[in-house]
Amino acid sequence: MTSESSVEGHDVWHEPVMAEEIAGLLVNRSTRLVVDCTVGAGGHAARLLDAAPQQSVLYGLDLDRDALRLAGERLSRFGERVVLKRMNFSELDLALPERLAGKVDALLIDCGISKLQIVTPGRGFSFDREGDLDMRFDQAGTVTAGSFLAVIDANELRSLLVQFGERANAKRIARAVIRRRDEGRLKTTLDLARAVKSVVKNKAAKSMARTFLAIRERVNCELENLVKALGHLPQVMAVGGRACIISYHSEEDRIVKRYFRRLSGKCVCPPGRIVCDCGKAAVFRLVTPKPLSPTAGEIGRNPSARSAKIRVVEKM
Ligand SMILES: C[S@@+](CC[C@H](N)C(=O)[O-])C[C@H]1O[C@@H](n2cnc3c(N)ncnc32)[C@H](O)[C@@H]1O
Repeated sequence: MTSESSVEGHDVWHEPVMAEEIAGLLVNRSTRLVVDCTVGAGGHAARLLDAAPQQSVLYGLDLDRDALRLAGERLSRFGERVVLKRMNFSELDLALPERLAGKVDALLIDCGISKLQIVTPGRGFSFDREGDLDMRFDQAGTVTAGSFLAVIDANELRSLLVQFGERANAKRIARAVIRRRDEGRLKTTLDLARAVKSVVKNKAAKSMARTFLAIRERVNCELENLVKALGHLPQVMAVGGRACIISYHSEEDRIVKRYFRRLSGKCVCPPGRIVCDCGKAAVFRLVTPKPLSPTAGEIGRNPSARSAKIRVVEKM
C-alpha cells in the first residue's frame, strides 16, 4: 500500500453493503458479543459497534493482513471493544476464548472481496489492472491463481466456469486460457483477460468477471470455508443471537439458503425421496424467509452491492 488509505490514487475504503439494515437486524440493547468474520476495512464493524451498547465487544477476523491493518486504523476509536485476529472463519470455533463459546449475540459473514483487494494491482483480483496471477486472500497461502492455472486442464477449467455462471463460452474460454498457458503467454492478470477476450466478442467484461471469480473462488476455497463456518454456528451462537450472511453469487446463496432452511427444521431432501435424511433440525428461526437485497439507491451509490443478498437467522 502506498498510504494507509489509497493505492495508486484509488480510495481503499470499502463501502459496507446494507450496513444500516444489517445493524438493525443484528444488534439491540442486550448485545454483548459481536463477531465480524470478514472484517475487511472495518465498515460493517464500525456500524455494528456504533449501534451496540458501550459494554459490547467485537471480534473481527480476516485472512488478509492489509485488511486487518486498515480495520485497526478505522476501528481504533473503539479502543478495547475491538479484538482483531488474522484467521480463517472456517475455524470460527477457535476464534473466541472458551468462556465466550455459545455466547455470540451477532455474527456477520460478508463473502467476496474488498475494495482494497480489487484496487491493489499486485493482488491480481482485477481483470482490468495489470498484476500477478495471485488472487490469494491470505498472503501466506500456498496456492495462487498462477499455480492453480499451471496444473488445471481445459475440462476442469470448463466445469469450473460453468459452475460460476459462464455457460455459453466456457469451453472456448477454457481452451484459450490453456493454449495461452502452454505457449508461455499466461503470466499476468491482463494475459488472462486477453485469453477471454480473444474468444468472447459480446459482453466480454461479464465473461472476464466470471472467469476471475471462478478462479478466485477455487484459489481461496471460498465455498468450502463458508460451509465449514456455517457448521460452527449452532455451537458459537447464543440463544436469541442472530447471524447474517451476505452472498454475491448464486453458488454462495444456494449454500446459505439450504443450510438455513435445514437448520430451521425444513426438509431439503431432493424431491421424491421417501424417507427424509437431510438432517433437518429446528435450531434456528428464519428472520428473513426470503433474502433481502440493496435498494436501487444504494446500488446507484455503490454498484458493487448490486448482486448482494442477505439472509439472517436467530438461534432458538
Ligand atoms: C467483502 S470484504 C468485507 C468488507 C467488510 N465487511 C467491510 O465493511 O469493510 C470480505 C473480506 O473477507 C475476507 N475473507 C474472505 N474469506 C475469508 C475467510 N475464509 N476467513 C477470513 N476472512 C476472509 C477477505 O480477505 C475480505 O477482506
